[in-house]
Amino acid sequence: MYESILVLDFGGQYNQLIARCVRENNVHAEILPYSTPMETIKEKGYKGIIFTGGPNSVYDDSSPKCSSEILELGIPVLGICYGAQLITYMESGKIGAAFNNSEYGSVRLRVKEENSGLFKGIPEDSDCWMSHTDFISVKPEGYEITACTENCPVAAMENKEKNIYAVQFHPEVTHTQHGRLMLKNFLFDICKCAGNWVISEFVSQTIEKYRQQLSGSKVLCALSGGVDSSVAALILHKAIGKNLTCIFVDHGLLRQDEGDTVERIFKQQFDMNLIRVNVQDRFLNKLEGITDPERKRKIIGEEFIRVFEEESQKLGKMDYLVQGTIYPDIIESGAGDASVIKSHHNVGGIPEDVDFKGILEPLRDLFKDEVRKAGTELGIPHDLVWRQPFPGPGLAVRVMGDITREKLDILRKTDAIFREEIENAGLHRDISQYFTVLTNIKSVGVMGDARTYDYTIALRAVVTSDFMTAQWAKIPFEVLASVSSRITNEVKNVNRIVYDVTTKPPATIEWE
Ligand code: XMP
Repeated sequence: MYESILVLDFGGQYNQLIARCVRENNVHAEILPYSTPMETIKEKGYKGIIFTGGPNSVYDDSSPKCSSEILELGIPVLGICYGAQLITYMESGKIGAAFNNSEYGSVRLRVKEENSGLFKGIPEDSDCWMSHTDFISVKPEGYEITACTENCPVAAMENKEKNIYAVQFHPEVTHTQHGRLMLKNFLFDICKCAGNWVISEFVSQTIEKYRQQLSGSKVLCALSGGVDSSVAALILHKAIGKNLTCIFVDHGLLRQDEGDTVERIFKQQFDMNLIRVNVQDRFLNKLEGITDPERKRKIIGEEFIRVFEEESQKLGKMDYLVQGTIYPDIIESGAGDASVIKSHHNVGGIPEDVDFKGILEPLRDLFKDEVRKAGTELGIPHDLVWRQPFPGPGLAVRVMGDITREKLDILRKTDAIFREEIENAGLHRDISQYFTVLTNIKSVGVMGDARTYDYTIALRAVVTSDFMTAQWAKIPFEVLASVSSRITNEVKNVNRIVYDVTTKPPATIEWE
């Protein structure tokens, strides 16, 4: 297996970012909670350990702490922010509360020790990113101060003999000018990593592992056409071929041509055992007259499970189920909890009473950008690999009010035009999610000499990194103008276009 760095989580906001920075250097990183037993840590044979930041003060009784044995394992340690203070505390140094001098934001960093392993190649004077109230007031014995700032006498310290390093600032954020190089120094000079964690290796090793493990077993997958389930399915397909069966439930709430595209790619291009279940009418009938957004979600989720159950029963006994769970799903749901199954982004989850020997999660170790790299590696077309997020209940939550075939048709056409124009303008990589909404409002217009009374379409486009908060995208007026003109010219029954200029919060990204 590959070498790995442990990111020990003390509750900091940049923990995932730390792991990603490590992985960018082709070194695998794993985030585990601070309470992970020392035995587990020893068993895993990490090449290095990074203590993350965290909101607490080390002198609080309730603050997160790990056993100080961790500093005696002979594994290099880097403590960041709270992690640096914890090392100080465990090594009998002192922490002060910098009430008047708390530092937040960009601060000048002065490197004092040019022989420091961590600061190799880093100029004496540079910017770093600070966010702290407490600070190291007395360094522990055996440690050398390697950097300071105006208000922070120990901005960095190290004990070369024990290979322990501590920085008060955050090397993982881009505002720390040379932070990436510091992490690189830690990984390669200090931890002696080889940097052999590459996606192509991961993909081929995973395929090989399943090939051996699953010989003769039957595996089932709910394929949605989203990037996670597609990559997961393809890994299994490469491992066991036709012993994998994918069920693709086409509920009729997909975007223009999406169902056909999924079928074409997986059935024809990859020769996968794919069953497309065309249940568009069944879903429309169930949704008839339903206007409440949560009711729509519930009906779609339940119906999805029913269809999936019916179809899988037709196939006879299946041994395993594949899930497209990715690493952030696992961390968000409680680190290391093997039983967590992705729910929000899979329509309705999986049926509970289907009896499987186990669940296979080939992507449970990957971040989203790594899943995309794996997808590219496997030959999945670019458009699918870079597909923007699409809600499980699909267009049902983009048609306000009751859902009809006519409304879905209008929405699909307008959405396709908006996406095409955004892509033509080259904005698709900068905007995180963009789509149209059928507002269910009709207004008066004029076309030729005649009065019209038709639908209003809203354009929604947001920029976000985590989808928890979002900014509306500042799309150039010319692009909005061509979208508006094309939609009103090309799509019947639409006579007005509005642009949604609301951030999240207070609005959500979807309208329902
Ligand atoms: P909101 O609208 O809550 O959306 O700001 C945040 C992100 O989640 C997606 N979304 C959903 N995804 N099932 C899903 O699988 C849902 O019911 C659902 N609702 C919202 C939304 O598209 C955005 O990316």
